[in-house]
Amino acid sequence: MENKIKVAIQKSGRLSEDSYNLLKSIGIKFNRSKDQLIAYGTNYPIEVLLTRDDDIPTLVNEGTCDIGIVGKNVFEEFKLESIAKGNRLNIDEIYKLPYGSCRLSFAVPEKSNLNSLEDFSGKKIATSYPNIVNNFLKENNINAGCIEFKGSVEIAPKLGTCDLICDLVSTGTTLRANGLIEAQTLLQSTAEIYAYRNISQNKSDLVNTFIERVNAVIKASNARYIMLHAPKAKVEKIVSLIPGSESPTIIPLTNIEDKVAVHALCIEEIFWETLEDLKAEGATSILVLPIEKILD
Ligand code: PRP
Ligand code: ZN
Repeated sequence: MENKIKVAIQKSGRLSEDSYNLLKSIGIKFNRSKDQLIAYGTNYPIEVLLTRDDDIPTLVNEGTCDIGIVGKNVFEEFKLESIAKGNRLNIDEIYKLPYGSCRLSFAVPEKSNLNSLEDFSGKKIATSYPNIVNNFLKENNINAGCIEFKGSVEIAPKLGTCDLICDLVSTGTTLRANGLIEAQTLLQSTAEIYAYRNISQNKSDLVNTFIERVNAVIKASNARYIMLHAPKAKVEKIVSLIPGSESPTIIPLTNIEDKVAVHALCIEEIFWETLEDLKAEGATSILVLPIEKILD
């Protein structure tokens, strides 16, 4: 039995860089040369398959890969297609990642009179997400036709192939460049980790460790360690201003009678405004430090 986990990530596209960096941030080193399709971990039993994002749910669903990192948009389309075809789903969503955020939206040509959802009735919609779109139209009782495009959906209205489109929007640059206006949003998406449902026992420990490490790094990325000096009389007030911190450490200061040091782990971001409020309450020598890993 092979005791190695297989992870599928996008080879090139919106998630590839962040996904690869995520694997590196959890301490995995690779023997990867550019353009290779498989990268082997040199210090963790892992094999990373670099593939088209649309193929990732299939690879995980059939157990070829144990884990896949892909956008929720791609997964939802796969899920609805599988349901429509009566195929079995062997894949579970297990961890939401803080990158790759985008939304799936309808977009209409600037000079069209398609203002609301009702106006889409009888129209032709070009999309790479026919299952999500058809499902949405059905739920909203809109009778419109869907034309499937594998890519470059945004040029379809200009070609006269359709009246409107449904595509991913991140910054909105692509829509603007093609004279399209975002209308209704169908789905919000980020990158997520998906896992094969029937992972063997020997691999499931490796998968759990993998997820635990990811969680440790992601939690740490927002967390900060704050250290400051507080007037004794203001300690309670100052501690109450520190965001998301549980039981800070209070330490006496050598040769300073009226002040103590306060050290705290903040699991939330600390904004400048908070530091200014702390200062206004008499805190001095305020230090905010980044954190690399948090293992609970
Ligand atoms: C999506 C979408 C648009 C673009 C929108 O493509 O199809 O082309 O991103 O992003 P923007 O709002 O920032 O301009 P994606 O990069 O996901 O490639 P793919 O559809 O070929 O996988
Ligand atoms: Zn794609």
